[in-house]
Amino acid sequence: MALDEYDRYLRFGFAANDEQIKRYTDSLNFERDEVFGIYNRRLELIAMAHLAFTADDNLSACAEFGVSVLKTARGRGYGARLFDRAATHARNEGVSRMFIHALSENAAMLKIARNAGAIVVRDGSESEAHLHLPPATIDTRLNELVAEQVAQTDYRIKAQVKQFWDLMAGMQMDRRDAHNAEPSNSK
Ligand SMILES: CC(C)(COP(=O)(O)OP(=O)(O)OC[C@H]1O[C@@H](n2cnc3c(N)ncnc32)[C@H](O)[C@@H]1OP(=O)(O)O)[C@@H](O)C(=O)NCCC(=O)NCCS
Repeated sequence: MALDEYDRYLRFGFAANDEQIKRYTDSLNFERDEVFGIYNRRLELIAMAHLAFTADDNLSACAEFGVSVLKTARGRGYGARLFDRAATHARNEGVSRMFIHALSENAAMLKIARNAGAIVVRDGSESEAHLHLPPATIDTRLNELVAEQVAQTDYRIKAQVKQFWDLMAGMQMDRRDAHNAEPSNSK
């Protein structure tokens, strides 16, 4: 919802309105698919990727990747990191081909895909990138386990620090209110 009209056009291939985005999020299948996110220190979600495994049993070794990063957080490598994270997960799930639909004008997305070794096929205003994924190894499995643990720990630390600062801010407000309520301080 935080994406502006042009970014919605880049992300979904059309300028999706709020209702269409809501339908998309309602349709996310948390059992089958995987959603990755990056939170900042204020626990605001600044980047989000969706790895959708194909629902077709005959194409079980395919997954589609979609991502968006808040404008203010772009150019810091988050999009590429989510792509790498999703590719590792896809490999570990036995996926051999990851694909990305992007508009041909979407230079950043196509750069991420090309950097990862994807083959990009342009068809007019639209492009499709295919990334061949080798089978999982002990390394990819361990990498994912470690990445998951680090992410959980990072989130817990951020949540505790935020809770602490929220508490401090609340106490400061209570103290100010009490100070203002004292008869000698009221105007
Ligand atoms: C596409 C998007 C996710 C990229 O996120 P990001 O975090 O800014 O990307 P990164 O910082 O990881 O940059 C990835 C690469 O693209 C390059 N890049 C970034 N912005 C670029 C731009 N406007 N033009 C050309 N290259 C660009 C970076 O230099 C980097 O390449 P490098 O590692 O070789 O230097 C982000 O722009 C976005 O959310 N766009 C709107 C939604 C969208 O288009 N989603 C993709 C459709 S599935």
